[in-house]
Amino acid sequence: MSLVNRRRRSRAVGLPALLAGALALALATTLAGGPATAAQQSTLHELAAAQGKYFGSATDNPELPDAAYAATLGSEFGQITPGNSMKWDTTEPARGQFNFAKGDVITDFAQQHGQIVRGHTLVWHSQLPGWVGALPSDQVETAMTDHITAEATHYRGAVAAWDVVNEMFNEDGTYRTSPFYTAMGKDYIATALRAAHAADPDAKLYLNDYNVEGLGAKSDAMYALAKELLADGVPLDGIGMQAHLAVQYGFPYRMQANMERFAALGLDVAVTELDVRMQLPADATKVASQSSYYAQVVDACLAVRRCVGITVWDYTDKYSWVPDTFPGEGAANLYDENLQPKPALASVRAALGAEDGGGDPGEPGEPGTLKALYRSSDSSATDNQIKPGLQLVNTGGTAVALSDVTVRYWFSSESGAATYRTWCDWSPLGCGTVTHRVAAAGTPAAGADHYLEVGFGSGSLAPGASTGEIQLRLNKTDWSNFDESDDYSHSTGTTYSDADRIAVYVGGELVWGVEP
Ligand code: XIL
Repeated sequence: MSLVNRRRRSRAVGLPALLAGALALALATTLAGGPATAAQQSTLHELAAAQGKYFGSATDNPELPDAAYAATLGSEFGQITPGNSMKWDTTEPARGQFNFAKGDVITDFAQQHGQIVRGHTLVWHSQLPGWVGALPSDQVETAMTDHITAEATHYRGAVAAWDVVNEMFNEDGTYRTSPFYTAMGKDYIATALRAAHAADPDAKLYLNDYNVEGLGAKSDAMYALAKELLADGVPLDGIGMQAHLAVQYGFPYRMQANMERFAALGLDVAVTELDVRMQLPADATKVASQSSYYAQVVDACLAVRRCVGITVWDYTDKYSWVPDTFPGEGAANLYDENLQPKPALASVRAALGAEDGGGDPGEPGEPGTLKALYRSSDSSATDNQIKPGLQLVNTGGTAVALSDVTVRYWFSSESGAATYRTWCDWSPLGCGTVTHRVAAAGTPAAGADHYLEVGFGSGSLAPGASTGEIQLRLNKTDWSNFDESDDYSHSTGTTYSDADRIAVYVGGELVWGVEP
């Protein structure tokens, strides 16, 4: 049973009822028909919950007094993980002296916001107080089981899943040296799982590591370990894939297939620490890769029934661990340092099935505050690419937040692949802030069975201002040809003019253009 479903059963602290409420809300939003308008946009967790998953974020105690940060943490996410405050150096800094005050702040926050908590982490070589490594070998097992027993007992009912052991493997799949491995060999893992189960029989117990997201030597080692533990009757419920990805290293090899092989053992899988870093400065190419990586992780999890949810390793660049750990790298999260949404957020929302910007269209053609200008930058209407050039102009008297704005350009798909690649080739705003995707029209019309949807991660358009020219491009993944001549939004004009067959929405309301 998935973590989400399990928490719907009644248990301590009232979390399950709250989560069930969140799920019901998400389902109601989905089932009531019609995409939400931006004003009532589903949260990330509602989108995920509608598909039986949770969507969560790491957090940390020093961040919670930041009211704007805490508001989004509390509203957008259905699960939280303490980034540090349940680690051994915090919870048992000296032998037998336990301190759960910081962790309790996290579980209290979760309870107040109807969130589930992943406990992180009981046994790890890092952030381990010195006294553990200094123990005589024959005392390490007792110290470890005492630690697990005290912490898992304390959080019984408040923590839904534990990363019982974290990062046990080297890159080549051999066991990492640690005080635990040195004292007990790899049996420390089974011992830790058994101790955690004894302390909290209801918590889901996970092994968690990085670079185990795709097929490879390290995930092979995790797979062999999981299989052996299950054969030995050791209580193990799931595998955590941290997913600290980096655009310069490529996307994990066959993530979905890797998740599926763990699921086939009868285990849950969870994406536990997702972020996608890049070498700074960011540019449009890196930002596009990042958006794609985030979406691919969501796609993999949605495709695997036993993937219970996704946790981002904090949701904003403001509180990312990346710049401190990987000098020169950063910009890894869904929101920027000012808590503004980045293109990756739109990409995750789209992958979760959001139909952002597709809300109540209002009165078609109603004069609004924005207008669209269009020209075709395509010399051929029958080749394998469609190349609209767009400009938005603020015709009203107040500034418009571009993150509220979406634009649709309708075209016909013709035969060939039903999958698309989209590109921003140039924008004075920076292509990094321009989001773009192709979606199938809910109600296909002549020349309009698909549309290119363009949005903005951030920025604002002052009265009278123009976005300047945004050069867009799309192709089918099989590079088969289009016939644009009958496309709803297409025209052959090569200079910019007002385009009423391109729709502009603000907050989901149609403010310009006529939909097909
Ligand atoms: C990181 C925290 O985010 C930082 O604040 C801390 O300084 C170091 O640890 N893998 C893990 C997490 O399992 O516990 C790590 O968290 C990130 C890598």
